[in-house]
Amino acid sequence: MPEFRVNPSILAADFVNMERELGRISSADFVHVDVMDNHFVPNLTFGLQMVERIAETSPVPLDVHLMIDNPEKWAPGYAEAGAASVTFHLEASSNPVALARRLRAMGARAGVALKPGTDASSLLETIDEFDQILVMTVEPGFGGQSFMPETMPKLQQLAAEAKQRGSAVWLQVDGGISESTIAQAAAAGADTFVAGSAVFGAADPDAAIAGLRSLAAH
Ligand code: DX5
Ligand code: ZN
Repeated sequence: MPEFRVNPSILAADFVNMERELGRISSADFVHVDVMDNHFVPNLTFGLQMVERIAETSPVPLDVHLMIDNPEKWAPGYAEAGAASVTFHLEASSNPVALARRLRAMGARAGVALKPGTDASSLLETIDEFDQILVMTVEPGFGGQSFMPETMPKLQQLAAEAKQRGSAVWLQVDGGISESTIAQAAAAGADTFVAGSAVFGAADPDAAIAGLRSLAAH
């Protein structure tokens, strides 16, 4: 596994041609799959049935991002569907550590996500209960928004805590990641980069992934 991961978000892909779109990002580390319920966020994508088919079809493992209420009810189903990682939102969860333990017990990497306005301090003591922490760099719900640099201090705080504890947790950023913002996020401590429009909007998505990876490493 490379030190820096680029996970294209299929939110920016052509939903009607998903199999073909998945084939355009075969060099990705994971494919990022945004599940939205029109309650936790003001937008709707797809649910478990679609993700099961994507898991069967995708040449790369799935990184599922659940922007939904009541993840305690739904998240285990995505682990069952074969997602390599399942990330739920801290703001939506009644017991994040218990849910992360359940996901890990099912063989998935457990992730927790924070909206831009959510403080990370409640996570610091339990950082090792998670395999990845997602710092949202836009308000969740839509692709194509501008990167919010004001989220970087939170990323730095998590990176410092992880380093101090010698933690293997991955620090992920999602929203507005492009050739012009990725270095800033990497400098603040991110190692896993979700990119929707910057990958699927490119003429050659695999080349865009390679370009992002090399910018993250510098
Ligand atoms: C937003 C989603 C993101 C989105 C990112 O709520 O979680 O994964 O697809 O899209 P870009 O990279 O276009 O900002
Ligand atoms: Zn996402």
